[in-house]
Amino acid sequence: KQLIIAIDGYSACGKSTIAKDVARILDYTFIDTGAMYRGVALYALNNQLIQGDVILTDQLADSLPEIQLDFKKNSETGKRHLFLNGTDVEEIIRRPEVAAVVSKIAAIKEVRHKLVASQREMGKNGGVVMDGRDIGSVVFPDADLKFFVTADPLIRAERRLREMQSKGIETSLESVLQNLQERDQTDRTREEGPLIQTPDAILIDTSHFTRESQLEHVLNIIRE
Ligand code: C5P
Repeated sequence: KQLIIAIDGYSACGKSTIAKDVARILDYTFIDTGAMYRGVALYALNNQLIQGDVILTDQLADSLPEIQLDFKKNSETGKRHLFLNGTDVEEIIRRPEVAAVVSKIAAIKEVRHKLVASQREMGKNGGVVMDGRDIGSVVFPDADLKFFVTADPLIRAERRLREMQSKGIETSLESVLQNLQERDQTDRTREEGPLIQTPDAILIDTSHFTRESQLEHVLNIIRE
């Protein structure tokens, strides 16, 4: 059987690392739902729908039909990247400007409805590992397996900082930590699809795990 595996949790806990590793081993499709929210945030930034602290929510909601998001193989790297209206945006959506606004964009009901519908479509036949915040609670409440990933905030910030620095993005530990905590707070407290650990999710704390031991642990659970 081709399973639906949901991996939810806080920002920068290593969800996507686990999800990618599991998908590779099982030959499943990895779906990074956070990238989709980042794609909408980038669209809003590019189209002046964010002015200072104000998001032009109604205009963004009206523009949603014009936002086309696809995961496609990049011809150079062979990896699946997010495309926004035909342009590969995989790199730019990781920038601090996007991280700074994405949770506010993700709190907009109309945005969530659009992305949840498209995620359900992508995963309906199974064989997917989907990483996000609301996969086990909203997108696929009947997922075959649900994981909830957490880690110590400082360890998360250090990992994310290294990741960003390796991509040439200049930032500091303090600002990365602050952004993670703000996003978690916004994600936990929004009305629509808040970040919650469902009772049937298996908790994974990645603070003191290596990538390999973590993968082994998760695969053992899946194979049980
Ligand atoms: O996973 P990532 O950190 O890239 O997600 C970026 C943001 O998108 C999160 O901080 C959260 O606000 C939002 N998100 C969400 N629901 C998801 C995935 C991401 O609200 N399923």
